[in-house]
Amino acid sequence: MRFDIITIFPEIFESYFSESLLGKAQKANLIEINVHDLRDYSQNKWGDVDDKPYGGGRGMVMKLEPIYRAVKNIRKKKLQSKVIFFTPRGKKYSQKKAMEYSKTDQLIMICGRYEGVDERVKTDLADESVSIGDYVLIGGEIPAMVVIESVSRLIDGVIGIDNEGFLEERMVKNGMVEYPQYTRPAVFKTDEGEEWKVPEVLLSGHHEKIKKWRNKRGKKIK
Ligand code: ADE
Repeated sequence: MRFDIITIFPEIFESYFSESLLGKAQKANLIEINVHDLRDYSQNKWGDVDDKPYGGGRGMVMKLEPIYRAVKNIRKKKLQSKVIFFTPRGKKYSQKKAMEYSKTDQLIMICGRYEGVDERVKTDLADESVSIGDYVLIGGEIPAMVVIESVSRLIDGVIGIDNEGFLEERMVKNGMVEYPQYTRPAVFKTDEGEEWKVPEVLLSGHHEKIKKWRNKRGKKIK
């Protein structure tokens, strides 16, 4: 699967996508992440990508044309692709959406910045507008990371790279979040003399009971 990010801050993504599991997944050709500098699609030599708002008002608005040209250039005809635009006014992102996106060939993500983006990016250019939560960020770069990470882990082989497939495929795919995990010591004594204990059932060696407990405590993300 291929991810394409359109941004005016391409450097933000460098270390995040080269380190970590996503770096390994790229080396193994399980995913491909391309970061595109929007300024490369500017119509003037200064690399301007914003302009004054119609109707007046303070601040600048990101222009439609450079974003349109970037999408045109990046979108691969042969691939089943989707163009998404990040905005707090978008549809709320969910595990279900991550699953849907993981089945496409190419996800093109437009990261907005500044005070705003020409509304036609949302209404005409993008297939979907997405919000990662009811709060306002400075730009779409962190939402792009959220989408790439949550979609990538659903792609066959990505999770297995680091932990030899320890996480069951079933859990990865159906959005099950891990049950609570513990390791030694069974009882931890704090400096204040409190005892923080591991649940009894996990020390019992009773596999059926442990399985039941884990099923009950695991959380399903919708
Ligand atoms: N841009 C600014 N805030 C955002 C949010 N909550 N989700 C997606 N894009 C955003």
